[in-house]
Amino acid sequence: MQARSVAVLTGAGVSAESGIPTFRDNNGLWRQFRAEQLATPEAFARDPELIWKWYDWRREVVAAAQPNPGHLALAEMERRIPQFTLITQNVDDLHERAGSRNVLHLHGSIFTQRCLQCSRESTGPRPQQCECGGKLRPGVVWFGEALPPGVWHAAEEAVRHSDLLLVIGTSGVVYPAAGLARLGKRVVEINATPTALSDQMDETLEGPSGEILPRLIA
Ligand code: OAD
Repeated sequence: MQARSVAVLTGAGVSAESGIPTFRDNNGLWRQFRAEQLATPEAFARDPELIWKWYDWRREVVAAAQPNPGHLALAEMERRIPQFTLITQNVDDLHERAGSRNVLHLHGSIFTQRCLQCSRESTGPRPQQCECGGKLRPGVVWFGEALPPGVWHAAEEAVRHSDLLLVIGTSGVVYPAAGLARLGKRVVEINATPTALSDQMDETLEGPSGEILPRLIA
């Protein structure tokens, strides 16, 4: 790979080979659960304990998972390419655990919580309540919520200034994240199947990212 400036957008597919369920594949989370009953501010207002139970379970799944060869290849790319930004829709930390450093989490992190009263964020085990006494919610972006503005701006800039954008393991149906694909100069998709974005790609590589990415850097 000759590009000197590369941006990457990843989705749940990149963590599938680590055993973390995706959202829309056959055994995906949104096939088992209705998104609007779990991943919305209204759902949390209705039944915070249920929502926390669901996130606590997902935290356990992520904590028990290991980065796969796809995550490791992306970390290696970052070491070799002068300008490299990894933009992820994933709330897991497998990119970081694989060694990636410059990571933008568009949808937040499953290991953080945010106070509904003072907005303070914290990471790690969840206390009963915030120091200020406020109620805590998961530090992720839910349906109907805006992305963290600084992170979104940095992602747009990184894609605009890159020679190559790799779009990996995402169905490309959730906006604004999927809209980044339109901003890339040259865009290559890596996915197990064709997606909503495939038609607008300059090139598509079909297969598991844990196999294709290591081949790209070899
Ligand atoms: P999806 O579940 O919508 O899509 C997963 C994609 O990964 C599909 O296109 C699969 O074909 C592909 N895939 C599965 N296994 C793969 C593998 N081993 N290698 C390569 N590709 C593979 O997940 P996302 O696109 O990430 O948002 O979903 C986007 C957002 O929707 C998520 O961030 C989440 C969800 O609702 C929020 O929670 C805000």
